[in-house]
Parts: sequence; structure tokens; C-alpha cells
Amino acid sequence: MSVTISENIKYIGVDDTDIDLFESQYQVPEGVSYNSYLILDEKVALMDTVDARKMSQWETNLKETLAGRTIDYLVLSHLEPDHAGSIARLVELYPDVTLVGNAKTFQMLPQFFEGQVQDCEKVVVKEGEELSLGQHKLQFYMAPMVHWPEVMVTYEVTEKVLFSADGFGKFGALSLTEGEDWACEARRYYFNIVGKYGNPVQALLKKAATLDIATICPLHGPILKENLGYYIGLYDTWSKYEPENKGVLVAYASIHGNTKKAAEKLGEMLKEKGVEKVVVSDLARDDMAEVIEDAFRYDRMILCGASYDGGVFPCMQDFLHHLQSKAYQKRTVGILENGSWAPCAAKAMREIVDSLKDVTVVEPVVTIRSTVKESDLANMEQLASAIAEA
Ligand code: FEO
Repeated sequence: MSVTISENIKYIGVDDTDIDLFESQYQVPEGVSYNSYLILDEKVALMDTVDARKMSQWETNLKETLAGRTIDYLVLSHLEPDHAGSIARLVELYPDVTLVGNAKTFQMLPQFFEGQVQDCEKVVVKEGEELSLGQHKLQFYMAPMVHWPEVMVTYEVTEKVLFSADGFGKFGALSLTEGEDWACEARRYYFNIVGKYGNPVQALLKKAATLDIATICPLHGPILKENLGYYIGLYDTWSKYEPENKGVLVAYASIHGNTKKAAEKLGEMLKEKGVEKVVVSDLARDDMAEVIEDAFRYDRMILCGASYDGGVFPCMQDFLHHLQSKAYQKRTVGILENGSWAPCAAKAMREIVDSLKDVTVVEPVVTIRSTVKESDLANMEQLASAIAEA
């Protein structure tokens, strides 16, 4: 896959199309890219390495692009193994390389690497400090918790390139997703991987607003060159936990299909009431990361859960715990429970929902017994109206 950035800034990343689950939890049907970049000047800087899974292909790209030159600096934006996994090999190949990171980078580095990596020369950079490569000049900005505490981004002044670490990253191998809509898989990536850290992302966006950026080079997904305001605007909305679109996610946890029927009926009622967008999702079967993405995307949600073991069916509990840990907030929620002898799902769902910041639960909370019957419809209509009008 040939990716062009500029005459002197080269893409040497790799696609991973045979990974089963990214971070051992996220389905990536179109794979993922591990991006790595070379800046060729009087001095040569390498911007991050790649996951060890694809080290061999990356090493080939690296040597071809260097064409016999050596590497002066390795800039470490982030030590998570999907980017730092090939540091030891790099140091083996170029033992005179100087590692560039911040104080937290070098605190954490020995946890991952011993021996030769520890013996390298190191440059410890602070906020706003500059490193000259010749014509190109690297400025470093700390971005703690965008996704890990040691994360920093690098701004190359001459070509106005922001190396944004995990920020603006997206699932999908570059070779399989060329020209694809960016937001869909970037949103799923954002809310599941970075979503908990809205405030740190806001802090980074404020720093980025002071820079004149022409190109964004993230550690995953495509290089962004045009219409940067669109991507930055979405990151601003997402990191403020504001809904991106008006709409309702109806998320259900159904054992034998009866709670599913209630969810689908609520979905129809919402559409009849003119709700802009209605998405009905099966928490037992649909991609959980996708449902989490939709929960954040829309401004309202209805939870439909079957009672189970004195609580709620586990996939609903799992979903709500995910939302809790990703700091779901500023939304309106409706609740429907199903129970055959002792309905208890609503109480279990409500306990978690009530712990969320600025989340309003609308009335009525609806209880159905085993199946949706004619006598349930009035209550369900009331719930659908309350959500449609919220
Ligand atoms: Fe792509 Fe947080 O590593």
C-alpha cells in the first residue's frame, strides 16, 4: 500500500488484515493499520514503530525508504505495544539511535524493555520543546490519557504536520478502506478506546487549535489532509460527550425473543411518532462496540431487558458497565423490563443508569410479563411518546 505524505515525510506503516480481535476485544472485519513514519532531513527521525505482529513487513518498508541511511531519532508517541512492539528490533538494527520521549515515557519504557533499549541515548522533551532535524523541526506537546499517560503528539513546523498518536485514529487496514467514510469506524474506535478520556482530548484540541495544521498523521487509519475542520469538529463533539445526531438507540437483552419483540414494537412506535433515526440492537448478538458507538452517537436510548437471576440478563449488564466505564452522560433514557414471575431487570438497569452523570430516566418505566399483550401497548406508547418528545 503506497501512502504519500510528502517528499521528505514517508509512510512506512503496515496493514494487519489477519488479526482476530484488536486489543483482544474489538472486531476489525477490515483489519487495522499500524502507522509509522520517517522524516528524512539532515537528521532522520522515525515516528513510532509498529506491532510486533507485523514487524517483518515494517522492517522491509523501513530499509527500503532509508535507502542505506541510518536513523538518528526514534520519537516515542505512545508505548502501547501496537506502536512500541518493534522498538527492540529497531535498536538492534540501529544501536546508535537516540530515543525521544517525555519523562513518563522513560519511566514506563523499562517495564516493556530491558537490555539494549535501556542503553540507548535518550532525549527527554517537555511541553513545547523543539528538536531540529535540519529544515524540519519537531515540537512536542503532551497529551496525557489520550490514551495512556505517557502519550505526546508531535508537530512538524515546516510542513505543518501533526503526528497525533491515537488521536484521529480509525479501524480498518488502509489497503481495504481507501475512500471509505471516515466517521463510522473512527467513531467506533474513539468511543471504545479513547471515549473515557473526553477531558484530556479537549485539552489536546485546545493545544492543537494554536497550531497551523495542514496534515494529520495518526497511528491508525488514513492520513488526513483536507477538510480538517470536519474531523476536529467531530472530535470536539465526541469529547464533550455531546450527541452527534438526534435519534434513539433501542438496545435489548432478550432470552427467547419476547423482549426483542417489545423492543421492535417500541422501535415502530418511535418511527410513527416521527423520531429522526431509530436503531434497534441485539446486545446478545450485535457487535457490542458498535452498540456503544450508537449509544454515544444519539441523544436518547431505550433499554429493554429480561429479568435473570435476580437482576438483568447479563449482556445488558455488560453493556451498561461499558457505558459506565466510558463515562456515558448527558442523555435521556427509557426503560422496559420483562419478567415471568418476579420482574427485577428494571431495578438492576436503573441502579447503573442512576450512577451516570446528567442522565434522565423518563417515565413510565414499563413492565411486561413474558410477552407483549394488547394491554401493554398503552404503557409502551406512553414510554415511546416520552422519549420522542424528550
Ligand atoms: Fe494504538 Fe493506544 O494504541
